[in-house]
Amino acid sequence: MISQNTIQEILSRIDILDVVGEFVKLKKRGANYLGLCPFHNEKTPSFTVSPSKEIYKCFGCGKSGNSISFIMEHEKYSYVESLKWLAHKYGIEVEETFASAEQREQYQTADSLFIINNFAEQFFSAALKESEEGRAIGLSYFKERGFREGIIEKFRLGYAPMERDAFTKEALAKQYNKDLLLKTGLVAERNGTLQDNYRGRVIFPVHNHSGKVMGFGARILKTTDRAPKYINTPENEIYVKSKILYGSYFARTAIEKADECLLVEGYTDVVSLHQAGIENVVASGGTSLTVDQLRLIKKYTSNLTIIYDGDAAGIKAALRGLDLALEESLNVKLVLIPDKEDPDSYVNKVGAGAFTEFIKKNKKDFILFQLESSLNDIGEDPAKKSELVNKIAESISRINKAEDFTKQQDYIKESAAILKIDEAGLHALVNKYIRDKVTALERKAMNNAADTEQNAMEAAVSNYDDATFDLLFKDQLQEKELARILLEYGNRLWDEHTLIAQHVFDEVDELEIEDPEVNRLITTIKLLLRSNPEQLTDKYFIYNEDKKLSAFAVSLLNHPYEESERWAADFSPNTGYQKDLFRQSFEAFSRVISKGNETDLNRYKLISEDRTNQKVESAIQYLKLKKIRRMLLQNQDDMSGPLSDHKFKELHFIHKSLKDMEREITNILGMVIVN
Ligand code: CTP
Ligand code: MN
Repeated sequence: MISQNTIQEILSRIDILDVVGEFVKLKKRGANYLGLCPFHNEKTPSFTVSPSKEIYKCFGCGKSGNSISFIMEHEKYSYVESLKWLAHKYGIEVEETFASAEQREQYQTADSLFIINNFAEQFFSAALKESEEGRAIGLSYFKERGFREGIIEKFRLGYAPMERDAFTKEALAKQYNKDLLLKTGLVAERNGTLQDNYRGRVIFPVHNHSGKVMGFGARILKTTDRAPKYINTPENEIYVKSKILYGSYFARTAIEKADECLLVEGYTDVVSLHQAGIENVVASGGTSLTVDQLRLIKKYTSNLTIIYDGDAAGIKAALRGLDLALEESLNVKLVLIPDKEDPDSYVNKVGAGAFTEFIKKNKKDFILFQLESSLNDIGEDPAKKSELVNKIAESISRINKAEDFTKQQDYIKESAAILKIDEAGLHALVNKYIRDKVTALERKAMNNAADTEQNAMEAAVSNYDDATFDLLFKDQLQEKELARILLEYGNRLWDEHTLIAQHVFDEVDELEIEDPEVNRLITTIKLLLRSNPEQLTDKYFIYNEDKKLSAFAVSLLNHPYEESERWAADFSPNTGYQKDLFRQSFEAFSRVISKGNETDLNRYKLISEDRTNQKVESAIQYLKLKKIRRMLLQNQDDMSGPLSDHKFKELHFIHKSLKDMEREITNILGMVIVN
C-alpha cells in the first residue's frame, strides 16, 4: 500500500499536460490542447486535454479520464502501479505502509536486476556493432537472415563475444554485485571462476511491456553444435517465463489499434514480421500459453490469432492451454503456415501484403478447428465420438461470461452441425457442465466460509467465480443487472441529450433498490454525473481505490447470465417473496410505472434500432416487472385474511392496477427483449 502522504503529494504535483505529453504530441487550441489520440487510429486529431479541468477526452473513440486513468489506460497499469509511475516521474519517494522487509528486499533485487540487464543490453549491442568480431560474425548473421539496421536497432539485438569472460570482466569492473550477476544468468560460476554464460551467440533482449529488459534469449550461430539452440535467462525476480510475451513492448499500440494480437512461436518470427510492417505480433517462446499471458493479451484486445507452422509439434502444446482463453473471453483464431515454412520465412518469401491476406483468409475458429481435426482422427467409433461430444460441451461451458452469451449459442449450433448431433441435446449437456461447475464452487464457497471478510473481498476481485455463484443463487438478479448496465453503458448516449445513466435514473429513481452494493454504486454514479461525468466509465470503478466498490464492479462485469430472457425462471410466483420488501407505497409506484411507459413511438424506435438501448430498456423493465410481481404477491397475501368490505375493494383495486401494469410491461418487454 502506498501511504496517504505519498498519494497526496503525487496528486498535488501532477500536471495533466505533462503526463499526457509524455506520450502524445499536444498543440494548444484555445483553452485546451489537441493531439492524435493514442487509443485509436486517427489522422486528424480529436484527442483533447483540458489543463484546467485536468481531464482528457477523445471525441473520436470516447476515451476520457484524468492523469491517473490515462496512465492506467495507456500503460495498462493498475491504480497503484500508475501512482508509482507518477511518483517516479516527479521524483517523489514512495512511502509504502504495509511493505514487509521481505517485500522491500524483493523490490530492490528486481530494480538491481533491471539495471544490470540494461547495462548488458548496451554491452551486447556495442559488441555487435562496434567490435570487429561482432560485425564479422553477429551482424553478418543477422544480415544473412534479412534483418536490416533499423530493426536490429529497434529490438536492440546484440552479440555475445566468444571470449570466456568478456561481459563478466566489464560487469565486475563496474562493481556489479556477484550474486546479482549470477541471478541474471549472464554470468556463471565454473571451477571457481566467473565466466560468461553466453558466448559467440546473437542476443535477443526480452523487454517487459514498458520497455525494461527482463532477460535475454541467446541464439547459437552454428546449428551443427550440440549445444542448445537458445539459452534463455533463468527464472528470477523479474524474468517469469509464464508471464512473458516477447515483443509486447513494441507491439502494444499496434495490437490496440488493430484490435487483434498475432501470436507466433519465435523471436525471429516477431522481428521479421515487424520489419515487414506487421507490428501487432508477439511470441510465446514455443510453450503452451499460460493464463497470465492470455490476460496480458486481453489488456489490449479480445482477438487473438495464433500463427504456427503447419507441422509444428508446437501446435498441440499451444492448444493445450487454450481452453483457458475461453474463460478469459478471448476470441481465438488459428492459422497454419503452409509448406514447412514458419512466419519468419513465409513473410520473407511472399511479402507483407500476401502474408496479411493469407492470415485473413485462413483464420479458423480454434474450437471448431479442434473439433474438426479430432473428428477426423476418430472416424466413426461411437464411444470415441461420445467422448468428443462431452469434451466439446465442456469446452463450450467455459464460455460463461456475460458478453459471450451469444458466442456460446453460436458454438453450440455450429458444433452440433459438425458433429451431426441434436442441437438441443448439446445445449443440455453444456448446461450440465455449467451446473457441475457451480456445484463445485458452492462446495468450495462453503469450505471457505470461515475466511475473513478481507479474504472474501480479495477472492471476489481475483476470482469472479465466487461472484458468479452469488448471482446465480441470490435473489437480486434484476438489480444487479441494472447496475451492470449502468457500469457498462452508463456513459453512452441514450438519445441526443441524455446519457444512459441519466435515463436509467429517470426511470427507476422511485423504485426501492434493496441490494446495498447496488445502492452504493448508484449513489457514486449519481455523484459522478453531477461533478465529473467524463469519469463515468467502468474503469473508474474497476480500478477504484475503494476495494469493495471495485470488487463489486469486477463481479458485475463478469456475471454470466445477463441476458434477460434467462430470468424467466426467476419469475415463478414462489421465489424470493419477502413481506417487508413492500415498503414502496402503491401510489408512488404507479407513478413510476406510468412515467416509464409513455408508449411513445419515438422512444421505441430509439430502442429497437440500437442493441445497447434495447439492453438498457429490458433491464429497466425487468426490474419493474420484478417489483410489480412482488407487490402482487404481497397484495394477494393481504387479501387472503378476513377483511372489511372497504379494505377488500381497495386491495382488489390495487390488484387490478398491478395486473394492468404487469401486462403493460410484458408488452414492452415483448418489444425489447434481446436475443
Ligand atoms: N526456444 C527456446 N529454446 C530452444 C528452442 C526454442 O527457448 N532450445 C524458444 C525460443 O523462444 C524460440 C522459440 O522457442 O524463439 C521457437 O523456436 P524455433 O522456431 O526453433 O526458433 P526461431 O526463433 O524460429 O529461430 P530460427 O528462426 O533461427 O530457427
Ligand atoms: Mn524460425
